Amino acid sequence: MTERIDPALPKIELHLHIEGAAPPAFIRGLAREKNIDITGIFDERGNYAYRDFWDFLRVYEAACTTLQTPRDFHRLTLAVLEQSARDGVIYTEAFLSPDFCGGGDLGAWREYLHAMHDAATEAERDMGITLRGVVTCIRHFGATKARAAALCAAETAGDFVTGFGIGGDEKAGRLRDFAYAFDMAREAGLRLTAHAGEWGGPQSVRDALADLRVERIGHGVRAVEDPALVDELAARGTVLEVCPGSNLALGLYPDFRAHPVARLRERGVRVTLSTDDPPFFHTSNRREYEALAQAFDWTEQDFRAINLDAARAAFCDAATRKRLVARLDQG
Ligand code: ADE
Ligand code: ZN
Repeated sequence: MTERIDPALPKIELHLHIEGAAPPAFIRGLAREKNIDITGIFDERGNYAYRDFWDFLRVYEAACTTLQTPRDFHRLTLAVLEQSARDGVIYTEAFLSPDFCGGGDLGAWREYLHAMHDAATEAERDMGITLRGVVTCIRHFGATKARAAALCAAETAGDFVTGFGIGGDEKAGRLRDFAYAFDMAREAGLRLTAHAGEWGGPQSVRDALADLRVERIGHGVRAVEDPALVDELAARGTVLEVCPGSNLALGLYPDFRAHPVARLRERGVRVTLSTDDPPFFHTSNRREYEALAQAFDWTEQDFRAINLDAARAAFCDAATRKRLVARLDQG
């Protein structure tokens, strides 16, 4: 069947975990080089294998044990941006985690960050794709580690590190325990987002808005279960970083047609489209667009409008935003 959406359609991705974007072969290569035992995280075809979201987190963290040096992250960042650029992505915001880059130590973090920033500069020069970093803490690692991550974020905030967020197990701990970390990041001038409304229901989204005062929500799709919250999100202009293929692969919805992204959009909520951890979920930007076009009869005009909204919501400076909008306008 011919594709409905031109694969080269310019795309903006606001929600991608850098380690979660590592292809299985990349992780296997590192494990071989370093003699690290990661048996049990792949299926017989060599894909990541997990039973549910919590098992996914275990497999994710096991894969991360092979990423041990700034050089590993340099190679990973280049590989990830190459793949994204092939799919037409012109701007990506990636979650970068001090916990996986030196264990929250500021000196080590600076070195890892430098390596990723170098790779981003190279990719921008060679492939025309722009990367910005959203430093992320991991909820099930606890509030103390989150504060260390926020310190790393605050100390390196600038042109490249532009945001702060929280991922991990949404059922672990209370969101308000992370407010101090988010306050630190906000005071350093960082823009804020939080994973919520993926495994937690509407109340989790309300908590992220009230306790952490974030301007964007990672996922947020379960807000659809509460009509008053949907109205509130629409009225506030809160942007959702929606990752439909991720939600399907983890069993939240049975198929694209059942996914709430179209209903949220129809109700006036600002939705954007991302892949989260593409190799884990057997997806890519191109596949997401194609599947959504088929499920909801969305056209290139719909995706253009969504990407314009993503450009407006991007955690970047005004000059970069202007450049992105111009590229979207050119098609
Ligand atoms: N970390 C990587 N992917 C994630 C997801 N989908 N939800 C929460 N934390 C994550
Ligand atoms: Zn995520």
